[in-house]
Amino acid sequence: MPMQMDQLVALCKRRGFLFQSSEIYGGLNGFWDYGPMGVELKRNVREAWWRDMVTAHNEQAVRPGAPSTYEMTGLDCTIIMHPQVWKVSGHYDLFHDFLVDCREEKRRYRHDQVFGRWVEGRGQRFFVATETLGDEGQEEMQHRALKFLGLRAKDAGELKWDGPVVCLTTIKDHSQVLAPDAKKLGTLTEPREFNLMFETHTGAVADESSKTFLRPETAQGIFVNFKNVLDSTRVKIPFGIAQIGKSFRNEITPRNFTFRSREFEQMEIEFFCRPETSADWYAYWRDRRFAWYLDLGLARDRLRLRDHDPDELSHYSTGTADIEYAFPFMAPGEFGELEGVAHRGDFDLRSHMEGKLDPKSRPLAVENDEHGQPRYRGSGRDLSYFDAETKERFIPHVIEPSAGADRATLAFLCEAYREDEVPDENGKLTKRTLMAFHPRLAPYKAAVFPLVRKDGMPEVAQEIYAALKPRLNVFYDEKSAVGRRYRRQDEIGTPYCITVDGQTLEDGTVTVRDRDTLRQWRIHKNECAAEIERLVSGNE
Ligand code: GAP
Repeated sequence: MPMQMDQLVALCKRRGFLFQSSEIYGGLNGFWDYGPMGVELKRNVREAWWRDMVTAHNEQAVRPGAPSTYEMTGLDCTIIMHPQVWKVSGHYDLFHDFLVDCREEKRRYRHDQVFGRWVEGRGQRFFVATETLGDEGQEEMQHRALKFLGLRAKDAGELKWDGPVVCLTTIKDHSQVLAPDAKKLGTLTEPREFNLMFETHTGAVADESSKTFLRPETAQGIFVNFKNVLDSTRVKIPFGIAQIGKSFRNEITPRNFTFRSREFEQMEIEFFCRPETSADWYAYWRDRRFAWYLDLGLARDRLRLRDHDPDELSHYSTGTADIEYAFPFMAPGEFGELEGVAHRGDFDLRSHMEGKLDPKSRPLAVENDEHGQPRYRGSGRDLSYFDAETKERFIPHVIEPSAGADRATLAFLCEAYREDEVPDENGKLTKRTLMAFHPRLAPYKAAVFPLVRKDGMPEVAQEIYAALKPRLNVFYDEKSAVGRRYRRQDEIGTPYCITVDGQTLEDGTVTVRDRDTLRQWRIHKNECAAEIERLVSGNE
């Protein structure tokens, strides 16, 4: 049976993966806290990314599929930056969604996230709108259309559905639209722009001149530091700069657990290369990033790489592919974005250098903003690159693999959730829930148990725990029956359990139990750390 999202949400709360932010005050929509298990899981996601992309990258070796060797380095920039950064980047003017308001229900919707169908009944033709897709959406539309016409479920045959489900953006006139929660037609306003950047003020006086923004992406910190990195290191093109950090977007409709939050973390690489090699690097990074999710356990049939249609491209991009995952909250056949891999050309470096660059390559209509300040004024700094070998100067092209740490964590949580039946101590089959995380991502790598709390077993188990603790995140537990302790570890995804039993006291061996296969084997107690490290790193 496919996993239901509410089962995962309940487990996340029960076992300390995720809590609603400010829950005791009723929560704050779009904000989430990671609990004791969640903080370890997300840290492991970030560390796996940083290690695989940056520190463990061998700059001397050509990776499979890569056009040449390359270097990787990192940065950690501030969340609040000079406001001009966002004007030049295009976010100030172009980073918006369209929203529609429902005058009747006082609710707000993202224009491109409302769908619906035309229907005819009792001489009326109208568009029933919903935010739900798939069979559930159709059921909801039918229910609401019947209710609107004052009909009952048994009269469903009277409804004539006209055409497929379409997005509200295709409906020009809202007068015949029944909004998702409305009882009357025509309650939706015209769509209007809504900038997603959170505003704040720096300094003591909160006026227009002190207005600043919480960054909506980590990427710009990398571009504005491009010259600093070149001058302070000996990196040569091609090379990448990586950054992990918080980003903020005032999303109109945050939803689907952490999938669309207002505060979230990004893991971004800006990869700088010669313009003529950029298409090859774009292909390389699409494949490399896709493989990363597979390596960490996402199922091949739930992942896909999708090229953006030209009208979907962001204002800076000349080509983007999304890595998408079939999250359980999506309708069947639908996928949600995990990561975008974009070919940004020289848009960002050139804009921060020269300014005055129209994002869609059109001449700029507006030079000054509403305060008379030049809107697209660049820094005036030279952000070009000089190739000492070829004696050429050029503005590098950029390939950007941009991942969400929270979305990746959510995908790993969804993928890990399993229910099965296992025999208990008496051989009776009992239901168990397990989180089958890749061992690299699991919050705890192992748990150490004495079989019983007597006969010197706790002392030996504590010795093993103390030996493991400096090397690995491990958990010690001697409370309750051993079967219940196993179940608890299964639910938080601990891949291995080490148990000290009667035989340990005789020959010094302990059992190691595998979470997924339930296989048990014996090793000497002094080998525990090496064995768990070997298993976690996958060097079997
Ligand atoms: N610098 C490019 C950029 O920011 P994006 O597609 O807007 O591109 C990149 O964001 C990734 O950040 C997304 O693929 C997603 O994983 C994550 N992300 C974006 N908005 C998010 C949100 N509201 N909540 C959680 N993650 C988000």
